[in-house]
Amino acid sequence: MEAESPSGVAGKAAPGFEPKIVAFCCNWCSYAGADLTGVSRMQYSPNIRIIRVMCSGRIEPNFVLRALELGADGVLVAGCHIGDCHYISGNKEAEKQIARTARLLEILGVDKRRLRLEWISASEGQKFANTVNAFTKEVRELGPAGYGRK
Ligand code: FES
Repeated sequence: MEAESPSGVAGKAAPGFEPKIVAFCCNWCSYAGADLTGVSRMQYSPNIRIIRVMCSGRIEPNFVLRALELGADGVLVAGCHIGDCHYISGNKEAEKQIARTARLLEILGVDKRRLRLEWISASEGQKFANTVNAFTKEVRELGPAGYGRK
């Protein structure tokens, strides 16, 4: 599958390409969900690097841009379901921030499919695994982001 690079040149996933994915997981739900995935020995793609944050509402556009700059091919933001945020409305703020970030990515010529927001509770280990696997597959098909430092 081909994808547009920032230079407008169609990129192609090289054979054997394995994307690097940064996952920002909120401490109270999604990180615990990721933990449950491991404890339950569910299989999920090893392509992600999890960064624990206190709340998904903490993720600002520059976090996503910085991850891409440092070589990530995709960024997953995972938080509590709406109504469950430990800080009441942090995940509603995350929705707004991620929508703004997606628009910013479009302006910068970055495929916004490289950014995903998901709600994953502490009891949803299987959902965490499924989300990671599906997002990894999608980013693999997009090919290397190519925004990282050379
Ligand atoms: Fe989980 Fe706010 S604490 S999204």
